[in-house]
Amino acid sequence: GEMTGGCPFNDNVKPRTLLGRTNRDWWPDSLPLEILHYGGLSPDPMGSDFVYSEAFRQLDYAALKADILALMTDSKPWWPADYGHYGPFFIRMAWHAAGTYRTADGRGGANSGQQRFEPLNSWPDNGNLDKARRLLWPIKQKYGKHISWADLFILTGNVAIESMGGPVFGFGGGRADVFEAERDVYWGSEETMVGHADNKTRILPEEELDLETPLAAIQMGLIYVNPEGRGGNMDPLQSAHDIKVTFERMAMNPEETVALTAGGHTFGKAHGAGDASLVDKSPGEAEIHLQGLGWTSKFETGNGAHTITSGIEGAWVNTPTEWSENYFRLLLDYDYEIVESPAGARQWQPINQREEDMAPDAHDPSRKVPTMMTTADMAMKMDPEFRAISERFRNDHEAFKDAFARAWFKLTHRDMGPKVRYLGPEVPEEDLIWQDPVPAGTMPSDADVAAFRQAILGAGFTVGQLVRTAWASASTYRRSDHRGGANGARIRLEPQRGWAVNEPEELSQVLAGIDAVRGSLSMADAIVLAGTAAVEKAARDAGFAVDVPFKGGRGDATQDWTDAESFAVMEPLADGFRNYLKTRQSVKTEELLLDRASLLGLSGPEMTVLVGGLRVLGANHGDKPEGVFTTRKGQLTNDFFVNLLDMDTMWELVDSTSDEEFIGYDRGGRQEKWRATRTDLIFGSNSQLRATAEVYAERGNEEKFVRDFIKAWCKVMDADRFDVESRPVGD
Ligand code: HEM
Repeated sequence: GEMTGGCPFNDNVKPRTLLGRTNRDWWPDSLPLEILHYGGLSPDPMGSDFVYSEAFRQLDYAALKADILALMTDSKPWWPADYGHYGPFFIRMAWHAAGTYRTADGRGGANSGQQRFEPLNSWPDNGNLDKARRLLWPIKQKYGKHISWADLFILTGNVAIESMGGPVFGFGGGRADVFEAERDVYWGSEETMVGHADNKTRILPEEELDLETPLAAIQMGLIYVNPEGRGGNMDPLQSAHDIKVTFERMAMNPEETVALTAGGHTFGKAHGAGDASLVDKSPGEAEIHLQGLGWTSKFETGNGAHTITSGIEGAWVNTPTEWSENYFRLLLDYDYEIVESPAGARQWQPINQREEDMAPDAHDPSRKVPTMMTTADMAMKMDPEFRAISERFRNDHEAFKDAFARAWFKLTHRDMGPKVRYLGPEVPEEDLIWQDPVPAGTMPSDADVAAFRQAILGAGFTVGQLVRTAWASASTYRRSDHRGGANGARIRLEPQRGWAVNEPEELSQVLAGIDAVRGSLSMADAIVLAGTAAVEKAARDAGFAVDVPFKGGRGDATQDWTDAESFAVMEPLADGFRNYLKTRQSVKTEELLLDRASLLGLSGPEMTVLVGGLRVLGANHGDKPEGVFTTRKGQLTNDFFVNLLDMDTMWELVDSTSDEEFIGYDRGGRQEKWRATRTDLIFGSNSQLRATAEVYAERGNEEKFVRDFIKAWCKVMDADRFDVESRPVGD
């Protein structure tokens, strides 16, 4: 937007809380199981010594795939398969499991099996997918710990595509299940979900539909966009715009978007057989005797030919259980008119459709019914950019097949991180740039490590410079999609080396200094080791004879194999650990610290000890003074906590135009002692953080502080070392 002068903040962004509406807001009556998972107790029945990757390696993969294949055509009377084939239904299940992924924070996606829990199990857009998961239960039960739900959702989607003759690029297992709803995902601040009684036909004003970062859905409860068009207007061009924005936020370009949507809708049908008001509550609010199944329908039999899901009715093509070229053919060759489904949804129907182009009725093969398109499908025809792609794919079916197979693989593996994490016999050989490939490194010798430690400490840099460079390299890691981290040393490549948070000029000097003395070490190892050596020196200078461990073996990535665009979204707009805030955000600055700590997989005490230590080491962005509550900067002491909690200091805002900066005065003499940000003062103001800060300020805990800091430091430095260790579930 344009600068209007005066206010430095973005006025367009309404303040919100970090998490927006949470499950407890949506379902206040749900069983408060969290009281059992208090005080470090885990909801995970597998226990902390269960390693999913080991269990997966013992899986009879071929037998599992054969069982899934057999299920495709084993129609169950309690939820009869359309056309006698569950394939399309399972593709939708897998797509919706993966499709919550968003690039901005890497959260969402298929990698922890979240579709089993609120809010996703109850999203209107996930209607009736509870049945898809229950159809799979006997198979999940049979293979037990050797296949996670998260892997099973995606593998079943692949088998479904294969079983109908569609192209598949590969499968990597390794998605460990979690056993509770993820609590760190912001799904929105809306008060109602789309499709809820009072929101069913509501046409929202444009500004309310504007997508908020980091969300990838246009309204709470939708995987992507409203199939009837934005706010229910049947406008394919507006829908095209929204589809582009939302798919881009899950890392899909227009070509991938067309390939995915067309490939997906080559299969199956939409369900809107009758009066949608006869459909009951979602799983999250359904009665206890329904055993977790929701959307019970009182329309006729409530299933099979009478199923109501989206309310839209009909198949996209005449051959809904076979891979074909029919989607683009029907989309481009026919003109369409708006009609209403039996459930009252609006959709597009071919004008004067020939009988051979009609679809079989899903439960009566002797009957033919017209095919349909949703407004979102019409976007693939009416939007000029989408149309050019659609025409190209129509004329070159092999290109379409390849694009669909690759886009599906990316969709379903985008949040698994580096390829070393993929398991099983169907992992594709080919490296893909979105996997952020890093060439294997070599383990440096102890002598080289020792020589480098000495050389870099004598190279003329401050402790703070070496520490913040290592931090900048490692702290891009996010456990949400396992991207980022120190491996690869992408901090020396575009776009990372130019990020404001990394102070490009100083960074290039430090990197040159490291490069000059690194010998046989990779840059990635040397950057981490430089910071690690500086931490050890700082601890020793403070009087603690401790060693700071270092694990080498990282490789160096190349610029060619770095997708600059997909790294651009990872630029930190705030990093509380370096006391950095680029621009004020729509959530409080201290919440941004929490968010980053959560992406790094840090606990509250780990976050606390890191902030306190990094401040006194002088690791602040721009070496600024805020939070450096010490007179011996560069030594690893607990001074941050001691001085923060000192009752002789009183804090005031620097001035009333901003609540981001503070001055600490001597209570008696009104002498300025310290400067601080919200990120510093939150450790004295929040009761729980204060309790932790007190531990680190207490006499007798000076060395505990140093040891805890070193542990947390190493955790961050090694956060992305999937190449050297098998990691416990959830890490
Ligand atoms: C079904 C919308 C993208 C695969 C549906 C249904 C709707 C819909 C409304 C009908 C649900 C029902 O009533 O049963 C959309 C929109 C998309 C989109 C708005 C984004 C622009 C995709 C993608 C895929 C996909 C990317 C997979 C790659 C399917 C399949 C079905 C389906 C296979 C049929 C399910 C069945 O037969 O039970 N979609 N979809 N869709 N979708 Fe999509």
